[in-house]
Amino acid sequence: MNWLHILCCFRCCFIALTAPAFAANRPLCPECFFDKRVAPILTQRCLGCHNQELKNGGVSFLDRDSLLTGGARGPAIVPGKPEASVLLDTLRHEGEIQMPPGPKLPLREIAILTEWIKRGAVWGTKLRATK
Ligand code: HEC
Repeated sequence: MNWLHILCCFRCCFIALTAPAFAANRPLCPECFFDKRVAPILTQRCLGCHNQELKNGGVSFLDRDSLLTGGARGPAIVPGKPEASVLLDTLRHEGEIQMPPGPKLPLREIAILTEWIKRGAVWGTKLRATK
């Protein structure tokens, strides 16, 4: 975590604590959006199979570059272009491969990941492997 992230998150918390009504209309800063909304999904749902040791499909979710490069099916994410991002295709469970294997993610989580890619897939704090 660098100082910019700390400052940025501090600012978000400050706004959230002091002016909830105002904060509700204010989008989270891009790094905060990643840390608060996106990171928990990737960590809980994807990182177990997509990390440095277990790079399923050739993709690690530990860093943004790996997602930009992607695997055999091309870039997993294309910042700003949800429709061109293989990652989102896999979440819809309509095509050849379906992620995560098993039940589909709740629609709310798919919407968060779509929104994140649409906004440029900005990364925040470095993710940590859970196991
Ligand atoms: C239980 C293990 C497991 C989990 C959990 C999992 N994946 Fe995968 N993933 C795989 C395997 C195995 C492949 C390779 C499938 C293949 O090539 O047929 C893969 C491949 C992929 C690919 C395609 C890479 C390419 O170009 O071929 C994407 C994108 C992907 N996963 C995204 C995700 C996302 C997003 C999540 C979390 C929501 C997730 N995966 C969770 C096992 C997993």
